[in-house]
Amino acid sequence: MRCKYGLKTEQTNRTQPEEKQAASAPILSVEGLKTYYYSNGTAAPAVDGVSFELHAGEIVGIVGESGCGKSTVVRTLMGLLDPISSRREAGTARLGDIDLFSLRPKELCRVRGKRIAMIFQNPLSALDPVYTVGNQIMEMLLLHEKMTRQQARERAIELLREVNIPSPELRVDQYPHELSGGMQQRVMIAIALACNPEILIADEPTTALDVTVQAQILDLLRQLRDRLGIAVILITHNMGVVAALCDRMLVMYGGVVVEEGSCKEVFSHPAHPYTKGLLAAIPSVAQDKERLYTIPGQVPVLRLPVRMCRFSSRCGCSMPRCEQEEPPLTERAEGHWCRCWQESGKEVPADGENS
Ligand SMILES: Nc1ncnc2c1ncn2[C@@H]1O[C@H](COP(=O)(O)OP(=O)(O)OP(=O)(O)O)[C@@H](O)[C@H]1O
Ligand SMILES: [Mg+2]
Repeated sequence: MRCKYGLKTEQTNRTQPEEKQAASAPILSVEGLKTYYYSNGTAAPAVDGVSFELHAGEIVGIVGESGCGKSTVVRTLMGLLDPISSRREAGTARLGDIDLFSLRPKELCRVRGKRIAMIFQNPLSALDPVYTVGNQIMEMLLLHEKMTRQQARERAIELLREVNIPSPELRVDQYPHELSGGMQQRVMIAIALACNPEILIADEPTTALDVTVQAQILDLLRQLRDRLGIAVILITHNMGVVAALCDRMLVMYGGVVVEEGSCKEVFSHPAHPYTKGLLAAIPSVAQDKERLYTIPGQVPVLRLPVRMCRFSSRCGCSMPRCEQEEPPLTERAEGHWCRCWQESGKEVPADGENS
């Protein structure tokens, strides 16, 4: 059995043929990322060995319940960690031929916005209330692109049109509070798109919006991928959103990826008990509304070193081995990886780890 990152999560063991790797060279490649938070002298391993790749024009979803480390992964990549309470302990992140973590603050600033842009859950808190939306888009253009103010204003109007804001010539001079929540998020997307980034990171971009506006924003992300070929990392709690929009998905639990694969494969053949639980927890109209399924138990508070399956205390198929050793990510089908000692209901043999 192929084992993706071994028991030591920073080790990799990719065995793809060279031609295949070259044909699908990732634009972003993250390996063995570890970010810990520190308080009262103890380290909390919020992200504990996460590796993934993103290809041009691909939408990758990161799912997992609150606190599993989704935002910490992308904040680490964007250099947005609080240096007092958190630290990147290990890992590399390559954007094309750039090593993101070796960039000086000024260089990182240039990459951020110009090559990778990010939108957040609450657009109103990310927009400056005292500047018009046009000025906020223009600021990005004037910072990163060689443009006159007039050119930047014209491009700002064009960007508002691109994100489907009606009457962009009027909206450009409005202040954030004059726009609805959905329009504010579109403005954030326009700012993110200002410098034609290769990657858009969207951290729960629709959580604060009502359902119809959510659908419009998600549809906009899909259009942008189709029209501009932009790659998207979409963080969400919502498996329905992942099914509708993403090509590939990572399921995180307790700071690690427990399952990864194409959405088609993971939704049709979920391998990890946690993913199965997440899928079972999607409400359906046919379901008895008195008894919605929830995964029993709570996310454990993790302390280092972790020497067990992080999900074992909540898992219905836990075995003694799960309490003694952390399972590696192993390949269950082409491109479908799972971190569990059980394989199709059977325990992974001990010698399966490195083969
Ligand atoms: N500034 C911080 N200081 C200490 N611990 C933190 C800090 N930020 C996050 N954490 C902890 O790190 C873990 C991962 O947090 P993170 O915000 O990455 O999770 P998440 O998956 O994005 O959750 P959510 O879905 O709620 O946004 C959590 O246990 C959280 O409590
Ligand atoms: Mg988060």
